[in-house]
Formats: sequence, structure tokens, C-alpha cells
Amino acid sequence: MSDVDDRPYFYVTTPIYYVNDVPHIGHAYTTVAADVLARWHRLKGERVFFLTGTDEHGQKIARVADENGVTPQAWCDRVAPRFEEVWSLLGISNDDFIRTTEPRHVAGVDRILETLHDNGDLYLGEYEGLYCVACEAYYAPAELVDEAGVVGGGDLCPDHKRPVEHMKDTNWFFRLSAYEEALLDHIEAHPEFVQPETRRNEVVAFIRSGLEDISFSRSLITWGVPIPWDQAQVAYVWPDALTNYMTAVGYGTDDARFAADWPATIHLVGKDILRFHAVIWPAMLMAAGLPLPHGVFAHGFLLVGGEKMSKSRANQIHPQELVDAFGRDCYRYYFMRDVSFGPDGSFSWEAILDRYNHDLANDLGNTASRVLNMVERYLDGIAPAVPTDADGDAIDRLRAALDGAVREYGARLDAVDFDDALTALWGGVKAANRLVEETEPWHLAKQTGEDARTRLRDVLGAGLEALRIVAVLVSPVMPDAAARLWDKLGLEGAAHDGPVDEVTAWGLFPEGTRVAKGEPLFPRKDE
Ligand code: MSP
Repeated sequence: MSDVDDRPYFYVTTPIYYVNDVPHIGHAYTTVAADVLARWHRLKGERVFFLTGTDEHGQKIARVADENGVTPQAWCDRVAPRFEEVWSLLGISNDDFIRTTEPRHVAGVDRILETLHDNGDLYLGEYEGLYCVACEAYYAPAELVDEAGVVGGGDLCPDHKRPVEHMKDTNWFFRLSAYEEALLDHIEAHPEFVQPETRRNEVVAFIRSGLEDISFSRSLITWGVPIPWDQAQVAYVWPDALTNYMTAVGYGTDDARFAADWPATIHLVGKDILRFHAVIWPAMLMAAGLPLPHGVFAHGFLLVGGEKMSKSRANQIHPQELVDAFGRDCYRYYFMRDVSFGPDGSFSWEAILDRYNHDLANDLGNTASRVLNMVERYLDGIAPAVPTDADGDAIDRLRAALDGAVREYGARLDAVDFDDALTALWGGVKAANRLVEETEPWHLAKQTGEDARTRLRDVLGAGLEALRIVAVLVSPVMPDAAARLWDKLGLEGAAHDGPVDEVTAWGLFPEGTRVAKGEPLFPRKDE
């Protein structure tokens, strides 16, 4: 066997989360989406690298640590594991977890800063401006809001509605303004670099309005990566943080790995941090002569009661509460099905309960129970052969619906469109239920004669095959439910084994397999 892995490569990232706070459902939204993509591309047979982690430097973290009377490092060491715990609660299959305080990361930050400096893209300059520590970003006075949220009048950050601070510093500046043309050219040549399209238009308009050079260092704080040639300063937290996407794959520590595993395929980010990823990050990479990621996809905010969740508004919902009530499969399904990836969306307890009862307990769970129950009752729990002769009847209609669902589901997931993917898949689930309704196997079972018997075996064989295909497809979104269904079907291997193109072909369910209905996949919930 050759040791060259020539499978297509898929490298997906989440933002690295600030450790000023413990994870809430907004953070988890991006992470679950990235996990679904990672699992989907593994199912396709690709070589996948899925990265998440924590952003641990900067003024915001130093302040929280101070308020809690511990060192910044001690604070980070306390909070970073909380993220790992929540990701394991949600079944997140990340291949690595990077923390910006790790030596492997700091080595790469040193490398990129030195490269930018050597290339003449960092210069010493004076800065005076209004800074929001929560955003770790400067604002122009015209961008600020007043108490009522009116833009232009006040001294509050437009995002956090907290007072900005006046800052004056001598810093190392990054020559961002020099990259305007190159960025616009790149986006024009590679429109998929910024998605969705509405966000791309915003980014293009922002670049066209003129880019200013940006301060890349701080002399007033110490919690950060020291500037290699100027130890009186530390790196600004954003260039430090962005570099994680490269340091995790060996930048600064393992050149061979870096050459094999960079660039990233897709960075998933919230709309609030799109500019950093679609403007500053590619400009840094261009300045350092490094390949750019293929794409950045920005999603909207998850609102609770119409408002953005935040620590200051005390309206945060934590994943544990929802997992306790609905389980992790429903958690993942709900956010991917109910909150379209792109625009802002809302969370509500009514909506998740509704998805649980309708889509999971009823459509998926009931269909599985009905088919399995009838195989147990009428065929002693032994799978009949999958019917493969087309005769233009209800079984063919199921096959056609499933074929369509398989194609559409894959196309939608490839396009990072989770809710439409799941709607398409549910078309297949409902088609399986319709087969049962139309053919009424309970009547067939009462009839005598060879024809009725054959028909019964065909219908139930088709039902089992549909459930097998659904289990495969649903595995990136609900890995546990897929495994439980696979188990009931008595199949070998796992639902997620793939490759998806091969295993979703009709006719693979082995005749003679012993199946078992067992407990319902999703028992109905009242309130
Ligand atoms: N540390 C930076 C990212 C650095 S990436 C090189 C950061 N961290 S964050 O913890 O504040 O936010 C991380 C992500 O969570 C962002 O993509 C942000 O949009 C997302 N969300 C935070 N609250 C959110 C919602 N209420 N809804 C959806 N996503 C939200 O920014």
C-alpha cells in the first residue's frame, strides 16, 4: 500500500472561541454546522481535517482573569476544558483542538509576524482611537451608537452597547491599504471565497470604501504573543487568533505537514467576524506569500426572544439544558433544520419541541417502528430480499423519491445549505411512510396465496432498504440515531462507513438479516 493519501481533502474550521465566557448555543451553532460538514465529507470518502479551539490572548481575557483574581493562563486553563466538554456532549468530531497559548501556535505567530516584517508590511506608527474591548476592535466615532441604539450620536459600541475606551499607542501597523486591489481581484476571480452572496457584496463594498492600515501590536498590555523583534509589544489578538488555522496544521513547526494540509477548504464564521476573515486574513496571507483558504462562509446570529445572546444581556441558553430535554441528536437536527445557515434565526422551546415530535418522533421514528414491527410480526424478524424489478407501482415511487432525496441532500450539503438538505432527506423519509400507507401490509398479511405473500415481502424489503439508506444519510446530522437505527436493522459495520455514493445504491440490504424493533428511536414528548 502506498502511503500517499490521494483522496480529496476537506479542511473545515470553526472560529476559535474567546474564553471570557462558557459556550452557549450561539457558539455551538457554528460548531455543530462544522461537525455536520466534516462528517458529511468523511461519509463521501474524503480526507477530512476538522479544527476548533480557543482564543486565549488579548485584553478581554486579561481583564476577565483579573476580575476573577487569577492569572490569565490559569483562567484559560480553567475555561478551555469547558468548551471541550460541551463539544463532546454534542458529539463533535473535531480532529484537533487548538489553544492560542500553546507553544506550537506561538511558534507560528512568530513566523508570520517575522515574515510580514521582513517583507516590509509592518511599520511603526502612532495610533489614537476608540476601542471596544469586548470586540477587541477600534471604531470610528460615526459608527458608535447612543443609549437608544441610534448610530452616530453616542459613545457606545454598536455591537455590545458598552462604552468604548480612548486608546493611544505606538504600534506596529500592517499595510492593509496596500491590498485593496488584490483583494477585490481575488474575490472577483473566486466569488466562492465569500459566501453567501449578500455577505460577499457587503465585503466588496467595504473594501471599495477604502481600507486603512491596522495596528497589529499593543504596548499597553502584556497578555499576548511578544513581537519577536520588539519585546515591549505583544501581537494584537486578531492576527494571533487567525493564524491558528495554519499553526494547527504545522505552520512554524512542521513544514511538510503544512505543505500537505494547508490551505483550508472552508472557514465557518458568524457575520460579526466576517471582515477579519474575508479582508484582514487574506491580506495577511497575500503579504506572507501563502495560499488563501478556498472559502469563508458567514452565518447569521441566533436570537433569543428577538435579541442577540450575550453575557451582558443574561439571556444565554447553554447546550446542556437542551440536550437534557431533547437529547443530542434532536439538538443537532433542530438547529440544522430550523435555523437557515446565512440569515439571522431564532431559537424557541416551542420550535424544538415541535421538530422533535413531528420530524423525529413521527416522521422518522414512527416509520421505522412500523416497518420493523411488521417484519417482526409477519416475517419472524428476518429481512426479505430487496425488490429490484421495476413495475411502476408504489415501490417504484419510493425508489424515485429516495433517489431524488439522495441527490438533492448531497448537493445541498456540498453547498453548506443544511436546512434544505434535511428537507430533501425528509422527502425520502415521508416516501417510506407513504409506501406503508399505500400498500397496507397488514391486509396483505391476512390474505392467503403466493401473490399476497410475495407482495408483503417486497413491500417490507423495500421499507427496510429505505430505512438503511436514510440511516446512512442522516448520520452526519444525527450520528447516534443513525447508529441506533443501524443496530435495529441488524446491519454490519456502521451507518457512517460510506462511501456514500456506493452505500446509498438500492438493493444492498442483505436478505436473511435479523432485525429488531426494540425501543422507539424518539419517544413522543408531551411538554
Ligand atoms: N475569538 C474570536 C474569533 C477568532 S477566529 C480566528 C471570536 N470569538 S467569540 O467567542 O466571540 O465568537 C465566536 C463565534 O461565535 C463567532 O462566529 C460569533 O459569530 C459566534 N456567535 C456568538 N454568539 C452568537 C449567536 N448568538 N449566534 C450565532 N453565533 C454567535 O469572535
